[in-house]
Amino acid sequence: MPSDKTLLKVLAGEDLDVPPVWLMRQAGRYLPEYRETRKQAGSFLDLCYTPELAEEVTLQPIRRYGFDAAILFADILLVPQAMGMKLWFVEGEGPKLAWPGEGVDLGALKPVDEVDEVLSPVYETVGRLSGSLPAETTLIGFAGAPWTVATYMIAGHGTTDQAPARRLMYQQPEVFSALIDRITDATIHYLSKQIEAGAEVVKVFDSWASTLIPDMFQAYSIAPAKRIVDTLAVRHPGVPVIGFPRGAGAKYPSYAQQVGAQAVALDQATPLDWARHAMPNVALQGNLDPLMMVLGGDPLGDAARKICRAMHGHPHIFNLGHGITPDADPGNVDVLLKAIRG
Ligand code: CP3
Repeated sequence: MPSDKTLLKVLAGEDLDVPPVWLMRQAGRYLPEYRETRKQAGSFLDLCYTPELAEEVTLQPIRRYGFDAAILFADILLVPQAMGMKLWFVEGEGPKLAWPGEGVDLGALKPVDEVDEVLSPVYETVGRLSGSLPAETTLIGFAGAPWTVATYMIAGHGTTDQAPARRLMYQQPEVFSALIDRITDATIHYLSKQIEAGAEVVKVFDSWASTLIPDMFQAYSIAPAKRIVDTLAVRHPGVPVIGFPRGAGAKYPSYAQQVGAQAVALDQATPLDWARHAMPNVALQGNLDPLMMVLGGDPLGDAARKICRAMHGHPHIFNLGHGITPDADPGNVDVLLKAIRG
């Protein structure tokens, strides 16, 4: 039966006059109520692993703004943690990861069927949300793409150029490729469990896809994403996938064509008139510059309307080109929604 939910309609190929809208990182530090719940949780990871609180912060932006979709509150780095790595967040510095033994050691990673020992609270959050969200709001689950997750696992922290991961990729291709396979297996399992718990759509974040040369993009962004999409399509027919190879540039169309996701998310540097013609058979998500959410005013409204005009007649989900930042003004989201909805 066709759904009434706007996001699901677009993912089924419809183009709507008013696009559905949600924002990456819509539950986050720019919201005072998030900062309050985050304080109550103690740490970011405690927030991720406490279903009542993770549910609460997922719902906060829905209550405040009535977005068309809610994205599960969690983090892409919970998967490497569940695979056996140590994970912690340093205030002002970001995530840190450590291998249980000496450096990259695939033997130290747990098998797929053991990751739920860590991840089961996330499935509980999804289950709670599927009961508590308004009927018109779509629940999106997510995971990091294998390449992006690998960059953190190999470097042990975020990097600007992903050089440690690219070094391993070039110098020890067997080890690197086996690591990508292990992460892909865990990711398929994790997304499958989210869908069983009630996620209606899943998104795969390849946030560092921009640093892969074309051959490596093919091998380590497209191929694993295709394996994820193909396997989920067999296990959960009809559940749409959004792929986000951020910064893929001219490689976006081959990603869209080969991966077979129902939507592709575009970063803010991607020209929309080019994208819609280069990817005629896939819904497109994006792609407002997140800085507009800090600046606000007429430039924000103008930029949002320009995106809507550029995508008119093509299945489109309005979003930013990357996550909303902690310095964004919550009032600017109202300005944005007014510009989009009319
Ligand atoms: O609202 C949502 O979008 C859902 C929740 C979500 C978070 N992280 C919450 C979060 C999602 C989808 C992510 C994805 C994520 N996490 C990505 C891919 C998307 C992207 O932004 O590129 C990546 C690379 C990560 C890894 C990660 N987690 C980083 C680099 C950081 C930033 C560290 C910092 O202090 O700025 C995080 C932490 C994080 N994840 C926060 C939130 C709300 C902020 C932590 C806090 O509240 O202290």
